Amino acid sequence: MSDAILRLDDVHTDIAQYRILHGVSFDVPAGGVHVLLGRNGAGKTTTLRTIMGLWRARKGAISFCHNDITALRTPDIARLGIAYVPENMGIFGGLTVEENMRLASTTGAFDDERLARVFALFPAMETFWDKQAYALSGGQKQMLAISRAIIERRELILIDEPTKGLAPSIINAMIDAFREIARDTTILLVEQNFHFARSLGRGATVIDDGHVAWHGEMSELAADEALQTRLLSLSMAEAS
Ligand SMILES: Nc1ncnc2c1ncn2[C@@H]1O[C@H](COP(=O)(O)OP(=O)(O)OP(=O)(O)O)[C@@H](O)[C@H]1O
Ligand SMILES: [Mg+2]
Repeated sequence: MSDAILRLDDVHTDIAQYRILHGVSFDVPAGGVHVLLGRNGAGKTTTLRTIMGLWRARKGAISFCHNDITALRTPDIARLGIAYVPENMGIFGGLTVEENMRLASTTGAFDDERLARVFALFPAMETFWDKQAYALSGGQKQMLAISRAIIERRELILIDEPTKGLAPSIINAMIDAFREIARDTTILLVEQNFHFARSLGRGATVIDDGHVAWHGEMSELAADEALQTRLLSLSMAEAS
């Protein structure tokens, strides 16, 4: 597909002596949100870390905007325009919100327009600008992690389970924020909250035991409860 921003082709990743990804192939189309789903331990985080060069693919290829990034170092991958928000958010608790944001900017300076956009999306970032990050609530920490990823223009943002442990009202606010971010950035989102995933995702890839078990339109997966149960072991209550 010519409109793919990211393409994984037969990616195999080992962690120590363990074979974790066994030939993962999928495309992420440019624009919007693409969701990576799968049970616990399926290989979702390993897939994101392999894209970022934090784990090395033993075999296979990863291309971003038609550049082969398989063998690049993580900072070089980031420089090409990919941001990564890991499961543990990667923020510095002892630093202020401002300092966390400055470290995420390649120049250490802020573009006024982008900063204004961050504050419009997440007003708590402006309120707590001078506060140390450890003092933020769980939801605010996640907002800071996402703010760091968007403080400069990125082509692609990889986000690992941003709704984990968050209250439903915050999750709904996050849906609006992600929609706004996705207007000019492609998001590859790992998500177990099916409501969140379904509200945002255009396409979906389901990973199971280090393989791609399913790839298609989110609307198709959302409409097929039997498919959800088979792929994700979702109960109807979780899916609604
Ligand atoms: N550092 C590691 N050492 C050994 N095995 C690991 C390591 N990290 C992950 N694994 C294994 O790799 C497999 C995939 O893990 P991964 O973290 O990618 O899963 P996941 O889909 O992100 O799961 P979750 O939904 O629980 O976050 C699991 O079996 C896990 O135990
Ligand atoms: Mg994970």
